[in-house]
Amino acid sequence: MCGIFGYCNYLVERSRGEIIDTLVEGLQRLEYRGYDSTGIAIDGDTPDKTLLYKQIGKVDALKQEIARDAPERDIAFASHCGIAHTRWATHGEPRQINCHPQRSDSQNAFTVVHNGIITNFRELRTLLANRGYTFESDTDTECIAILFKHLYDENLSNGHELDFHELTKLVLTELEGSYGLLCKSVHYPEEVIATRKGSPLLIGVKSDKKLKVDFVDIEFPDDTAGKPDTPLGSKNATPNASSRNLLNGNRRTRPFDGNNLLPLTANEFNLRHSQSRAFLSEDGTPNPVEFFVSSDAASVIKHTKKVLFLEDDDIAHIYDGELHIHRSRRPEVGASMTRSIQTLEMELAQIMKGPYKHFMQKEIFEQPDSALNTMRGRIDFENGSIMLGGLKAWLPAVRRARRLIMIACGTSYHSCLATRAMFEELSEIPVSVELASDFLDRKCPVFRDDVCCFVSQSGETADTMLALNYCLERGALTLGIVNSVGSSISRATHCGVHINAGPEIGVASTKAYTSQYIALVMFALSLSDDRVSKIERRKDIIRGLHNIPDQIREVLQLESRIKELCQNDLKDHKSLLVLGRGYQFASALEGALKIKEISYMHSEGVLAGELKHGVLALVDEQLPIIAFGTRDSLFPKVVSSIEQVTARKGRPIIICNTNDEVWAKKAETNKLLTLEVPQTVDCLQGLLNIIPLQLVSYWLAVNRGIDVDFPRNLAKSVTVE
Ligand code: F6R
Repeated sequence: MCGIFGYCNYLVERSRGEIIDTLVEGLQRLEYRGYDSTGIAIDGDTPDKTLLYKQIGKVDALKQEIARDAPERDIAFASHCGIAHTRWATHGEPRQINCHPQRSDSQNAFTVVHNGIITNFRELRTLLANRGYTFESDTDTECIAILFKHLYDENLSNGHELDFHELTKLVLTELEGSYGLLCKSVHYPEEVIATRKGSPLLIGVKSDKKLKVDFVDIEFPDDTAGKPDTPLGSKNATPNASSRNLLNGNRRTRPFDGNNLLPLTANEFNLRHSQSRAFLSEDGTPNPVEFFVSSDAASVIKHTKKVLFLEDDDIAHIYDGELHIHRSRRPEVGASMTRSIQTLEMELAQIMKGPYKHFMQKEIFEQPDSALNTMRGRIDFENGSIMLGGLKAWLPAVRRARRLIMIACGTSYHSCLATRAMFEELSEIPVSVELASDFLDRKCPVFRDDVCCFVSQSGETADTMLALNYCLERGALTLGIVNSVGSSISRATHCGVHINAGPEIGVASTKAYTSQYIALVMFALSLSDDRVSKIERRKDIIRGLHNIPDQIREVLQLESRIKELCQNDLKDHKSLLVLGRGYQFASALEGALKIKEISYMHSEGVLAGELKHGVLALVDEQLPIIAFGTRDSLFPKVVSSIEQVTARKGRPIIICNTNDEVWAKKAETNKLLTLEVPQTVDCLQGLLNIIPLQLVSYWLAVNRGIDVDFPRNLAKSVTVE
């Protein structure tokens, strides 16, 4: 979805040019989350003015827009807060006026960048329009900016000068839906608010001095637990906090002073206290510090590895070089009360393209390593044992489950389909595989003795997250198979496995698919490690896994042949079928999805056994078909399905095992093309078979002149329903 980025420097002098460059570069790293339009808000020559730059298209277009306006780049800011956004349109087509930051009025009093959807925005618009506000955009976000202004002005006219976070609390009580948002205001110069509900946000912290975090011991007043502070437009707003006088430049009276501080040492925010403040130097004087607020660690890693992940309903307030965390509502019983500053393990090189033309190509070629990283430290190949630290304590409970429900979307759903048969075979637990949206639409019955497994690369997909909440409410044991560390799904599930594929930036998921597949195989292997009847089968699979990285490397050597094939035989066709059966049905679905999303060629994954029930009518000498014909127990049936195709003059391209004589003969008689992949254990063959299809989709797209990493209408992380 959209990407949001904020940059605040405090006592670290930065020129306006440097600030713009930092914001724009942050956006570039988030571009994969949305690339319809972009924008930034920064200070004018004095902090009571905000400059807005917005442009349709990608970040490069924004750069040109800023260059056209030529704001003075050399002007220096000792302290400054800027916000930025890259958009994937949900409300309002990509037009300049719909780009973020959205503003409250022509004076840019409040500017907001937002990821998510405000579901009651029509009601809010009507309410605000009735109070005389005018709207210039079609976005749901604009009503947030106007709400800020409305509640600010109204409280001021009642004699209440609210702190920025207090004002934010009032705004949030009016919002329904999901958001990750940043707000900047001329009324709160050099301050920024970052808050989230259902959309990821993290804060990177950079300071040369040793950081110290102090806590202020103020309990939540009971009457604020989950209740609105003041309804929209209430004349009786009675904020209980400190006031400040912006007009004469007084800083606020702090709600705490040195006497209240409880000296704690860990880099943790403890939300038992209503707020925590951070980043004093050890002698209590302010530290020069920079904060980077972002939807994704990828845009922060260049600056700092120290990050803090915000949780839903957190309100982070940055000012005077300090980070304060408040809550818009009391945390649920049992919810985490601390926010730790964590050290990212990611390296900058991981999010750079290196010698590759596109992230997708890089990620396809990373698979020998990402597959190995998924297994690293978890499989003892000599003893044939598996140790998944995040699941170990939960395995007995999983074994008692009456069924396992795997829930996911898109490619992640395909990884569940690909491993389901192996899972049932090894665990002897019935497994159902569900698309998250359909699972919710059907209000699928879920019971306390169900185990629900959520598979997601981003860990933020809204449909999957909603399904997770649904299962938690019904008391099921929940488990996450997730790539993004610190993501919502990885934090909300009881237990799980990080697939450790490394950052996946290309919109089309490739290495995450193979790593999810491997993680699910390891999960099934762990579940069955107490079953004598499975000993031999488990050994075979573990041996197979050991060879997978090298075998993937071998398959990648097909690239030049596939490139030619796409150029000469496939690129001008309108449609393509992918046939598979048994374990390879998931490969067919996943291959077809890759082709349509990246090359825009219509493509369908077909269960080979279903051909004769309808699809055969499409087959002629023109229609390109790719068929999986690798060896497993269904091989004779697959051969017969493919014969049905060749009998109708179809000329399928066969993905088969190296030196398979059956296909060698058929290829000669029927003039078929083959792409050979090494053989592995039946239930792992999909890990190798998907690679040629990933390459086909990539080279089809390149040949058709498509911007592979930015396919139209798609975004990497789908944080709206
Ligand atoms: C396709 C693709 C999508 C995602 C889906 C779920 O290449 O990437 O189909 O798989 O949007 O996303 P995650 O795995 O982040 O939950």
